[in-house]
Amino acid sequence: TLFSRITGTGSHLPERRVTNDDLARELAQRGIETSDEWIVERTGIRARHFAAPDVTSSDLALPACRQALEAAGRRASEVDLIIVATSTPDMVFPSSAAILQNKLGIAGCPAFDVQAVCSGFVYALTVADAMIRTGGARCALVVGAEVFSRILDFNDRTTCVLFGDGAGAVVLEASDTPGILASDLHADGSHVGILCTPGHVSGGQVLGSPLLKMDGQAVFKLAVRVLEDAARATLAKAGKTDADIDWLIPHQANIRIMQGTAKKLKLPLDKLIVTVDEHGNTSAASIPLALDAAVRSGRVNKGDTVMLEGVGGGFTWGAVLLTL
Ligand code: ACO
Repeated sequence: TLFSRITGTGSHLPERRVTNDDLARELAQRGIETSDEWIVERTGIRARHFAAPDVTSSDLALPACRQALEAAGRRASEVDLIIVATSTPDMVFPSSAAILQNKLGIAGCPAFDVQAVCSGFVYALTVADAMIRTGGARCALVVGAEVFSRILDFNDRTTCVLFGDGAGAVVLEASDTPGILASDLHADGSHVGILCTPGHVSGGQVLGSPLLKMDGQAVFKLAVRVLEDAARATLAKAGKTDADIDWLIPHQANIRIMQGTAKKLKLPLDKLIVTVDEHGNTSAASIPLALDAAVRSGRVNKGDTVMLEGVGGGFTWGAVLLTL
């Protein structure tokens, strides 16, 4: 049987680091009050990175991909599939994946974006795994890349303090041994209204607001419930139990949601990989960013069993269980 396996990881953050205090000072100039204390206590976020206005998702993805390729010992010319998970693409079209392909100096292989907001990376990884297992590719770049700073409403303190920019990437290769063990994906479009960026291009202008809006409490309640279900379904498909999980790498949105999921899976909190404190919520980029940080720091190692899970706008949610 053919499997897929991650052979390299990489990530990239834009240079500008904005602490909660920096952000509070900027918001105060607009007459909006927030504080480091409020943000840390409710979310666990201490800082985030914001890209310069002319930097796009594919710009952030490029160095992340180069790092992942180097870690895998592969050249860009060996890549035969590119999937970019993003909700903040460079353009309406073509895809950020096609633009990234050109920046990597290659051409010919399939390249496309996956849009599942914060669940985007688990969706993209599942699609790449399926293509590799059915012989459609042998060396894929699977990327999460976002510039959420572009769609933040800096007059809305309930959302603008939560998000950041960044990119993470993995090289996923055909393998005789597993790799990706199982995955479980879902969507429920009846919840569009509680988390969305409704604006769209029409007649030469943007119709509707191009800025993110979220009902945080409604999202919170849904998130905690569905994440445990997705993780359990994934374990069941793989024939594994809670005790088999070495590391939990959740979508990094809110430390309370992340710790809640760890507790439900009976995992000690030192098995939970946390980067939300330094990255904020980078949507589809948060899981590959956290995975790369955990690998490079030496915490997560080859052979470890890792649960990835995420929930985001749509609603979409899902989980992937893998052996690194
Ligand atoms: N600074 C100071 N005060 C604030 C701020 C802020 N930045 N934002 C809100 N407040 C105030 C509110 O106005 C409210 O004041 P009030 O009691 O006088 O009305 C008070 O703080 C409490 O507000 P709540 O919304 O009840 O705060 P809550 O504890 O629910 O925390 C939060 C809000 C952090 C957004 C939380 O609901 C949450 O994390 N939800 C999940 C969001 C999430 O995970 N989203 C990501 C998943 S999908 C994706 O990533 C795209």
